[in-house]
Amino acid sequence: MTNSEQTSVLITGGNKGLGFEAARRLGEQGWTIFLGSRDEGRGRAAADKLTAGGANVVMVPLDVTSDESVSGAVRLVREHTDRLDVLINNAGVPGRGIAPADATADEIHAVYDTNVYGPIRVTHAFLPLLRAADHPRVVMLSSGVGSFSVVTDPEQPSSKFHELAYSSSKAALNMITVRYAQALPDVKFNIATPGEVRNRKFAATDMNNNTGELTVTEGTDSILRLAMLDADGPTGIFVDRLGPITW
Ligand SMILES: NC(=O)c1ccc[n+]([C@@H]2O[C@H](COP(=O)([O-])OP(=O)(O)OC[C@H]3O[C@@H](n4cnc5c(N)ncnc54)[C@H](OP(=O)(O)O)[C@@H]3O)[C@@H](O)[C@H]2O)c1
Repeated sequence: MTNSEQTSVLITGGNKGLGFEAARRLGEQGWTIFLGSRDEGRGRAAADKLTAGGANVVMVPLDVTSDESVSGAVRLVREHTDRLDVLINNAGVPGRGIAPADATADEIHAVYDTNVYGPIRVTHAFLPLLRAADHPRVVMLSSGVGSFSVVTDPEQPSSKFHELAYSSSKAALNMITVRYAQALPDVKFNIATPGEVRNRKFAATDMNNNTGELTVTEGTDSILRLAMLDADGPTGIFVDRLGPITW
């Protein structure tokens, strides 16, 4: 059983990339890590690695596109705890970078299923456990390209990269997070982008074929800051590694 005094966190897509690094860093803080992974084998391998390093980890099979999988994840987490302090909605897919003229609703749907409906599915299912915590926090993983001010800035490379699915999914997630924050003041809902928007930097992971200039540790700085907010911290904000960013 999980020690009820210990801070607990569920991280979706915790088997690799930023999710795994956030799990590693929060595990070092002594937190109980519920490590979500849609593939049990990959999740088990990631959890074993963290456990070998001394972390307290429970692997949670969790595909954010499946209601059934999310319900199973709630049941499993409930076997270990009656409250969840932090949820990090990290799982995401980039889509295929299809240009607006070629994008179909079907192609967009697959990206939204993970990046938009996924965080809603998981948040809705875990709200009762979150609300049982003293000061619950939800961290949403967005992107600089989810910001209107970034995408419409001619100096930003994303203004010239014409795609529809990923950027609009993250913009939708931003609005969803703000609406949760307004409606549910007992839970902090904040948004992290792993990069440094001003410096046009992002973190090297499989999502970008490891082309980012930041390490995964640097990429998780904004996530950890929001996960570790104290009770009088902000809600409904959008930050990167350097601080608040514009919508
Ligand atoms: N890297 C950056 O600089 C950057 C910049 C902006 C935003 N982000 C955001 O940061 C988050 C993490 O990305 P990353 O860079 O760490 O990418 P990554 O290394 O590709 O990791 C993505 C994670 O999401 C998981 N995932 C995908 N679909 C899923 C589903 N249906 N259910 C559960 N898990 C699923 C993947 O699992 P599998 O291993 O099973 O595929 C993997 O664990 C994403 O939301 C991304 O949009 C990253």
